[in-house]
Amino acid sequence: MTAVDGKRIVLGVSGGVAAYKAAVLARELQRAGARVQVVMTEAATHFVGTATFQALTGEPVFTDQWDARIANGMAHIELSRAADAILIAPASADFMAKLAQGLCDDLLSTLCLARECPLVLAPAMNRQMWENPATQRNVARLRADGIELIGPDSGEQACGETGMGRMLEPEDIVESLDAFFSRKVLAGRRVLLTAGPTFEPIDPVRGITNRSSGKMGFAIARACRNAGAMVTLVSGPVAQRTPLGVRRIDVQTAQQMHDTVTRELDQAQHAKQPVDLFIAVAAVADWRPARYSEQKIKKTDAGSAPELGFTQNPDILASVAKREAAPYCVGFAAESEALERNGRDKLARKAIPLLVANIGHETFGRDDNELLILDGTRSVRLPRASKDALARDLVADIAPRLPARPL
Ligand code: C5P
Repeated sequence: MTAVDGKRIVLGVSGGVAAYKAAVLARELQRAGARVQVVMTEAATHFVGTATFQALTGEPVFTDQWDARIANGMAHIELSRAADAILIAPASADFMAKLAQGLCDDLLSTLCLARECPLVLAPAMNRQMWENPATQRNVARLRADGIELIGPDSGEQACGETGMGRMLEPEDIVESLDAFFSRKVLAGRRVLLTAGPTFEPIDPVRGITNRSSGKMGFAIARACRNAGAMVTLVSGPVAQRTPLGVRRIDVQTAQQMHDTVTRELDQAQHAKQPVDLFIAVAAVADWRPARYSEQKIKKTDAGSAPELGFTQNPDILASVAKREAAPYCVGFAAESEALERNGRDKLARKAIPLLVANIGHETFGRDDNELLILDGTRSVRLPRASKDALARDLVADIAPRLPARPL
């Protein structure tokens, strides 16, 4: 469950080739729990048919200001009155120009003018159209009017050129909308996280790692970003998409993760923009092979196995907690027994104020989880839910614990 869950969204589709992506977007919004009502401009129907959206959303699609299906003939009032937000995707250059001028000569533009709910635009157009001073003037006007713009992105365009103006991908639009609806409990805060496993090489082709997928860490990074924080995520090798607006640094080994975290904290302190919150979600390897072999270790005919000695890795979380002017530190624990007792031991051992324990150790790779939040005195249980929903609840629990920033 995300902040989009249960929201009623009017999805406005204006005329541009990116309209074909709006069909996927309608689907993704529904998957996130939104109720979607599609309204199209006449131009949009030349790119995708109304039947596609009708079949996907199970709701009639409106294109015409004079649609007789709305009993009182006030389609523009009726449709936007019920909405939590109007999302225009794609928002063409022409449609944005109309909005900037307050024109209302079709159903969708009239709906936008007659709205009481927020209006969010996902622009899509060719590079020259986006860069044109007239469009940029309209963008500034729309922003000044309190209209939210998400994207555009830069990349390959339908016209064959590469540049700014490409509509964000549907899943990024849903993510941006999720951020838009989220409470900004970490507004202005800086957050540093570790996530995923580490990989400790033995030789050029072998190494030691663990089953962490990075899902929980990435979900928490996304939830912090949604809550208004500036987020840096130091990640081990994972197959996760970087959340929009999150700065990601990829590392392999525990030592690299340690060095990157230390460097980030030093630089932030030096720039007088200290990190407020450090969340160590990574499943860091406790040991690494004592020696790295530059060449692949060969099997011998005698059948003897190589001896692998181990060296202990630095404890990243404990080293951050020990720093002078340390950020507020949150640790994670995957204990298989005596959760609360072992969790409290860990709080003390690492000298951290908060520990989050996974309830049950089969959490790796799953989409859901169950958590126990432990501080020096209390424990709060977050019942089984998706990692995204847990991440949001966890952030809501952590935010009020952060010390106020010195003025
Ligand atoms: O000591 P243990 O590995 O059980 O503690 C888990 C917590 O400590 C997690 O938050 C993990 O990210 C962090 N940790 C770390 N560096 C290590 C080992 C664990 O930051 N070398």
